[in-house]
Amino acid sequence: MINGGTTLHGEVEISGAKNAAVAIIPAALMVDGVCVIENMPQISDTEMLLTILKELGAKIRYLNRSTVEIDCTDVWMQDAPYDLMRKIRASYYLIGAMLGRFGHAKTTMPGGCNFGVRPIDQHIKGMNALGADIDIKSGFIYADSRDGKLHGARIYLDKVSVGATMNIILAATLAQGRTIIENAAREPHIVDLANFLNSMGADIRGAGTDTVKVNGVDRLHGGSYALIPDQIEAGTYMVAAAATGGEVLIKNVIPRHLECISAKLRETGTIVQEYGDAVLVKGASALRKINVKTLPYPGFPTDMQPPMCALLCVANGTSVVTEGVYDNRFKYVNELRKMGAEIQVDGRVAVVEGGKRLSGAPVMACDLRAGAAMVIAGMCAAGTTVVEDVRFIERGYENFVGKLNSLGADIRIVDEPEERRGREKIVSIV
Ligand code: UD1
Repeated sequence: MINGGTTLHGEVEISGAKNAAVAIIPAALMVDGVCVIENMPQISDTEMLLTILKELGAKIRYLNRSTVEIDCTDVWMQDAPYDLMRKIRASYYLIGAMLGRFGHAKTTMPGGCNFGVRPIDQHIKGMNALGADIDIKSGFIYADSRDGKLHGARIYLDKVSVGATMNIILAATLAQGRTIIENAAREPHIVDLANFLNSMGADIRGAGTDTVKVNGVDRLHGGSYALIPDQIEAGTYMVAAAATGGEVLIKNVIPRHLECISAKLRETGTIVQEYGDAVLVKGASALRKINVKTLPYPGFPTDMQPPMCALLCVANGTSVVTEGVYDNRFKYVNELRKMGAEIQVDGRVAVVEGGKRLSGAPVMACDLRAGAAMVIAGMCAAGTTVVEDVRFIERGYENFVGKLNSLGADIRIVDEPEERRGREKIVSIV
């Protein structure tokens, strides 16, 4: 429940990157030894993946709030907890990791946010090229290497896909010979996965460019690794600060990863100042309209599209938002309309008539980033907004309410998500 009309001021610390963590936790399955991962975000997606590894036989313990030790030495191939797998998108990384370690894998079709059809054909194409047969039956994915081992191959992705790039990197790490991924995605979390694997003995080059080369190695050894900060969490606080006309120092970030967001915010009249590992965002007294199109990195991230759309509702003038990654990522617009927003959607294009005073309303968090957009709109609105289904937000934002309230927001959780109620923390801090 958000009491609107607040302006955000102060400092906020960004957590580790969700989309790096959800690939690096499965990657730990392939490591012959103990991995210590620092800067692990406390969100439900990472908790679910750690639970999956634990049920497969991994030993997991937190050394402090954000440092987790994973030992997969005793993991054996067995049925994974499918009810958990189908809840998260990133369960598809278990295919690459299990193929790498065992030569076969069985997972469910991935879950995650619903932005229309989200095929995994490029993942399958990659695994096939590496020598695995993939069979999809009754909602399960069966992957089997044809001769017990994967073999390096040249793979051209027909679509720039973050998930396929990372999954193929995982599978190719312990394969025999060299794999070349062309038309690869270039997101910072792809570089993070490659850095993690390289620090454990892998030989991956070119991550962050559109050609990634993986020379297969025989084994990965244990080690320590710190995750990069979350680009989208940082971007969300940047947009929240700008939309509420506040002034927030966003700490523990890599400003270079935020350039695509900073550039568009500056066009709205927002001041963004970069420091070594922080950005200062000062909202303008009157925000200006902008046109924005989402694209793979280094373009404007699709995950920032809903929060930016919420901001543009309160900017002056008519903005055009074009979704360049997903077919159907404007479903949440109906919820913004309930708050008085004027937005017309035609396919992948939304036209936002800005300058409207939003008013509080009961709305839904349709998915993770749409949920964040509702909270931003609620802070900008007059009166009280109730956002339902905050479990989506908890998938990817650590302590969202606590962090926003520390900046001066007035938000309360009035009904705890059922999933959190009675949920035991999977591992205790030692
Ligand atoms: C990841 C992120 C998600 C982000 C997205 C784009 C995770 C867990 N999730 O999702 O937060 O919104 O990147 O930055 O990291 N596609 C195909 N075939 C495939 C794979 C993808 O057609 O085999 C299409 C998708 O439908 C989409 C586009 O390619 O239109 C990009 O998807 P992709 O980059 O794969 O997104 P995800 O990895 O699922």
